[in-house]
Amino acid sequence: MIGETKKNPYLRPLDPRKDLNGVADLIDACFDFQMDEDGREYVRQIRRVAQSQNSLFGIGRNLGGTGVPMQGFVWEVDGKLVGNLTIIPFLRESKWNYLIANVATYPDFRRQGIARQLTQSALRFIRDRGGQIAWLQVREDNQAAFDLYASLGFHEIARRTTYHARPQTYKDSSTANTISITRRRSSDWPSQKAWLQRVYPPEIAWHLPFQVNNFQPGIWTRISQFFNDESIFQWAARRSDRLLGVASLEFYRGNADNLWLAVPPVLEEDALFSLLTHIRTEAPSQRTISVNFPNGVAERCFQSAGYEKHVTLIWMNQSTKQGHKKFSTEKLV
Ligand SMILES: CC(C)(COP(=O)(O)OP(=O)(O)OC[C@H]1O[C@@H](n2cnc3c(N)ncnc32)[C@H](O)[C@@H]1OP(=O)(O)O)[C@@H](O)C(=O)NCCC(=O)NCCS
Repeated sequence: MIGETKKNPYLRPLDPRKDLNGVADLIDACFDFQMDEDGREYVRQIRRVAQSQNSLFGIGRNLGGTGVPMQGFVWEVDGKLVGNLTIIPFLRESKWNYLIANVATYPDFRRQGIARQLTQSALRFIRDRGGQIAWLQVREDNQAAFDLYASLGFHEIARRTTYHARPQTYKDSSTANTISITRRRSSDWPSQKAWLQRVYPPEIAWHLPFQVNNFQPGIWTRISQFFNDESIFQWAARRSDRLLGVASLEFYRGNADNLWLAVPPVLEEDALFSLLTHIRTEAPSQRTISVNFPNGVAERCFQSAGYEKHVTLIWMNQSTKQGHKKFSTEKLV
């Protein structure tokens, strides 16, 4: 294992003024096979920021929320970055939490302990700043990375699957059942809000483009959507006037429209299926529909409604405090 001397000559903090192109190269090389359009746009954004450094607005401009690496650690050999890790701070309930991202080592340098030492440095950095929790996300099929993080004390918190579907122009006759789909009513909001907060709890929602109050009925929500160039369409599923679920399709920035599902703890799959198929035929745009949901819940329902598994991410965290409670959002039923 290289670099285990007290003062490691290869490992140093990221310097965003000179390292961003090297970081973008590493992400390109190490994540290429799994990168979707949002991932590619992220790398392009890092390169744009690297290019704009000499301009007045370069590195000093507000990049909050973009995830562009501003803090982290790199592993450098003969002037070339061969490993790196990004640390993204975020404020939650007035406390700083930290996300570890972009952990990558070039293939020729793997299995030498580089990612392990980068991650250990990040954990020390977070503790030294009084951070309470370090978070990260790893793909379900990335056993090597999962093992690395588990060996460093990270615990699995939740598994979330993102499904993608294309809008369709014809109605599927199999949706004909006792469920009726109508526009969401104002009176649905209390149940919808409680169900949304269960499906997208704060521990998950902080890293999704999700704001529960975006779906609240009323004029102020509409005004805010107008100014944010955002529109939301909402449908409710009922049987004999009993509310069984609400689906909200949100048009925003990015390459897909986000669908948020409010369903009760005892999920009626018929109602979910009817909502999912209805949305594919009624979606006002031709963009991909993307929905994030607890992994393993109603999977067959998504598949029969034409929603394909895009990715499953394992959310892991490590508390810097003793007695931190693990919580689970894996099962809704
Ligand atoms: C995952 C990755 C960052 C590991 O980098 P690395 O520098 O080779 O990792 P390390 O040498 O520090 O290995 C640390 C531990 O990870 C696990 N691990 C790493 N590579 C592994 C592999 N190919 N097979 C099995 N376990 C592996 C082992 O537990 C290893 O400990 P050990 O060597 O004592 O058995 C690297 O393979 C990579 O860049 N992959 C592509 C990008 C990626 O998937 N990043 C993680 C995103 S969450």
